Amino acid sequence: MKALVLSGGSGTRLRPFSYSMPKQLIPIANKPVLEHVLESIRDTGVTEVGVIVGDWGREITEVIGDGTRFGLRVTYIPQDKPLGLAHCVRLAQPFLGDDDFVMYLGDNMLPDGVTDIARQFTARRPAAQVVVAKVADPRAFGVAELDPDGRVERLVEKPQEPRSDLALIGVYFFTREIHRAVAAIKPSARGELEITDAIQWLVEDGADVAATEYAGYWKDTGRADDVLECNRRLLSTVTPLVAGEVDAASELSGLVVVEPGARVVRSRIEGPVIIGAGTVVEDSHIGPGVSLGRGCTLRATRLTDSIVLDGAAISAVPGLHGSIIGRNATVGVGVGDHRLVVGDHTRIEVAA
Ligand code: TTP
Repeated sequence: MKALVLSGGSGTRLRPFSYSMPKQLIPIANKPVLEHVLESIRDTGVTEVGVIVGDWGREITEVIGDGTRFGLRVTYIPQDKPLGLAHCVRLAQPFLGDDDFVMYLGDNMLPDGVTDIARQFTARRPAAQVVVAKVADPRAFGVAELDPDGRVERLVEKPQEPRSDLALIGVYFFTREIHRAVAAIKPSARGELEITDAIQWLVEDGADVAATEYAGYWKDTGRADDVLECNRRLLSTVTPLVAGEVDAASELSGLVVVEPGARVVRSRIEGPVIIGAGTVVEDSHIGPGVSLGRGCTLRATRLTDSIVLDGAAISAVPGLHGSIIGRNATVGVGVGDHRLVVGDHTRIEVAA
């Protein structure tokens, strides 16, 4: 079996971050989403991975390389325009050949893994096996209607009136049958080749299309609030480790990672928290639920439930929560009224 990871797309829901970096490289518990994805694939035993990349291909290639670091062999497949998930399968056909494959969305996190589902698929080899989960509002998802045996009867993309609360989540298993389907379908009303349409085509063609309800934790990290929620979740499972310096006037509680070269001075760190390599925290109270990247500086700051990317600096901010601070950004206190230098599509909430 091979894997196809989709790491193109436009990432409009993650602006402004997606202006300066691909959303698949946003760090969750200080590791890019795409690295979590590749590790999840590696755990299934797959070694050959095709990665679809769009405009951010160069940045993704620089971070992931040839995949050796993950025990994988990575082939990059460029996509000029984000024309849909089924378009990605069309582009990848020469790489995939006649092999079975798992298709994994490069911005989806399933930290509990997909090895059991991969095993089920390999044992039964339906033409397609989708992974579904119950969601509160299925209208934003591809929705699966199942028969009592768990076979897919119908799939609908973003239905106005959903007839099921089972949404397709970001992992799909296919045999080569899918290539006939992606070749046959036409673009949807939003101009994309939809994978749901391709799978529906298989259903109508009489193919065996199975569904497995996912029992573990799952998150599509396509929006900032979901990135933060997923970060909280992953932080709650970190193994504590102090490899940097913590002075005698500081206090650590809960799960705390202090990476090499990081310094904690006169501060309280309330886990779960990760402090990245080379980051300095002084006279601050950090956590719970905080990931600090590498080379950050935090002074006289109270910060909870947030992600701070590499090289950012925060000083003298007495209460900051639920925030994502971009690379090399600075947040501080001035005199008088608030002063902001804000990029496009940034979200700022100022206390009244
Ligand atoms: P989406 O999150 O559905 O789409 P998007 O990246 O365009 O984001 P937004 O809706 O915020 O504008 O895509 C799911 C994953 O698939 C994501 O990792 C991007 C990837 N993708 C491609 O690689 N090619 C494509 O043509 C599309 C539509 C998505």
